[in-house]
Amino acid sequence: MYTQAMDTMAREAKGQVQAVKSAEEQARETAFEARIDAGEFIEAKDWMPDHYRKTLVRQISQHAHSEIVGMLPEGNWVTRAPTLKRKAILLAKVQDEGGHGLYLYAAAETLGVSRDELLDALHSGRAKYSSIFNYPTLNWADMGVIGWLVDGAAIMNQVPLCRCSYGPYARAMVRVCKEESFHQRQGFDALNVMMTQGTPAQRDMVQDAVNRWWWPSLMMFGPPDAESTHSTQSMRWGIKRISNDDLRQKFIDATVEQAQVLGVTLPDPLLKWNEARQSYDHGPIDWSEFWNVVNGHGPCNRERLADRVKAWDDGAWVREAALAHERKKQLRAKAA
Ligand SMILES: [Fe+2]
Ligand SMILES: [Fe+2]
Repeated sequence: MYTQAMDTMAREAKGQVQAVKSAEEQARETAFEARIDAGEFIEAKDWMPDHYRKTLVRQISQHAHSEIVGMLPEGNWVTRAPTLKRKAILLAKVQDEGGHGLYLYAAAETLGVSRDELLDALHSGRAKYSSIFNYPTLNWADMGVIGWLVDGAAIMNQVPLCRCSYGPYARAMVRVCKEESFHQRQGFDALNVMMTQGTPAQRDMVQDAVNRWWWPSLMMFGPPDAESTHSTQSMRWGIKRISNDDLRQKFIDATVEQAQVLGVTLPDPLLKWNEARQSYDHGPIDWSEFWNVVNGHGPCNRERLADRVKAWDDGAWVREAALAHERKKQLRAKAA
């Protein structure tokens, strides 16, 4: 371990000072870097630098929290789905998100943290989750737009994570991405039905939902590269493969054409094909809105957290019953 005092470790984590390392530590770190460079997966029992472990715990747990908080805005519409078919699809999708949370908490636990610690950090407001889920879902078209844009942006972000250097996270992502692609397509399909077979009022609902979700979806890729604090080290370690701005651009380029197929207008008058770059130029993103929501002042931050805490408290009897059942089974096994 480090030979420096705690305060030095904190400063080291911010990249301000280098802790003194023994020759043995240096050799282990060099061997670790060589494995990363060779494209090898790092597994749970392998040695890894403390900062690599902490970075992964932060990222994987934030990802897990985002999956389960992400169930809330859509869960809100399960009882109001317009048809049985749409209700069954929405239920399946929300349930998938719960499953994604489960794989991700399990992946984080392989790094030596407990699920209780992670959930406590979420419920006490210390941990972050994706800010997109702090926006309200105001009409049925929001369900389609969340699938199309929010799950679409999630896929862009997560496909490169299937090649993340940490094996348990990468493997969880392979399955998650398959399910996210169903989520994206069901959203597009729901919108397409409303746009091609719906009334003018239904088409207006779709356009209204697109207007509200477009910019927050672009913010899902995180701050611009120049302001992204964790990016350089995460790229070096193979945790992150593509920069925030590059992923955002890929998303915009793919989505503009889908918007044309749907017949909706993306709310950016500066969106324009750039022949030289072979990409779409776009208008400025309001980063003050992003930071405002990240810092807890979005439209639904308090509501989402309160719902999560209530779900946790309401589920206490289930956790207690499961533990009591397990204790009984063990006693019976001993007696036999
Ligand atoms: Fe998900
Ligand atoms: Fe999803």
